Amino acid sequence: MNTSLRGLRESAARCTACDLYKHATQTVFGEGRPGAHIMLVGEQPGDSEDKEGHPFVGPAGKLLHSALSEAGIDERDVYITNAVKHFKFIERGKRRIHQQPKQIEIRACRPWLDGEIAAVRPQALVTLGATAARALLGPSFRLTAHRGEQLASDLAPLVFATIHPSAILRSPDDETRHAERARFVDDLHVVAQALADTRQERAPA
Ligand code: URA
Repeated sequence: MNTSLRGLRESAARCTACDLYKHATQTVFGEGRPGAHIMLVGEQPGDSEDKEGHPFVGPAGKLLHSALSEAGIDERDVYITNAVKHFKFIERGKRRIHQQPKQIEIRACRPWLDGEIAAVRPQALVTLGATAARALLGPSFRLTAHRGEQLASDLAPLVFATIHPSAILRSPDDETRHAERARFVDDLHVVAQALADTRQERAPA
């Protein structure tokens, strides 16, 4: 198989490794340049992403993009993808309601994610939400206990886990939403700082 990002994307578009392809509109592969310093991994495309074919273009994506900019992270240096590349949903009338992917679906999709990590070779990898964290850091990983910490992992030199931007959108009131968003920006800021620190360590004296 062609293991470049383009080759992986073309192969993933034909993926039938689990049943999710049967109902989703299309495979939503990651986006960004090989060599991007930061890789963000979400759960799975949502309704808008499924229709448009790009990751994080719906409401959670808008929040994510504004938080990245507030944390001083240049989008051109970010590769964004998901643990699962097809939208999983149930239909309720005209609405398509997101459903959490099962372990078997996450596992079926893992080769694409591994391929993306190998092709991009990010300096910092950040999981967004519990599904991506468990997919990459193991089923016993506890996001509430380790959110925002630098984690020991061979996935990338710097590995962090934070919440999913959809969780912020689900906040019960404005006050909580503002507080959760600020904490999310803080987490991204820690990533940006850790990256800046490693670059400084590597720079010739
Ligand atoms: N949520 C995700 O985890 N990924 C997307 O691409 C959009 C919403």
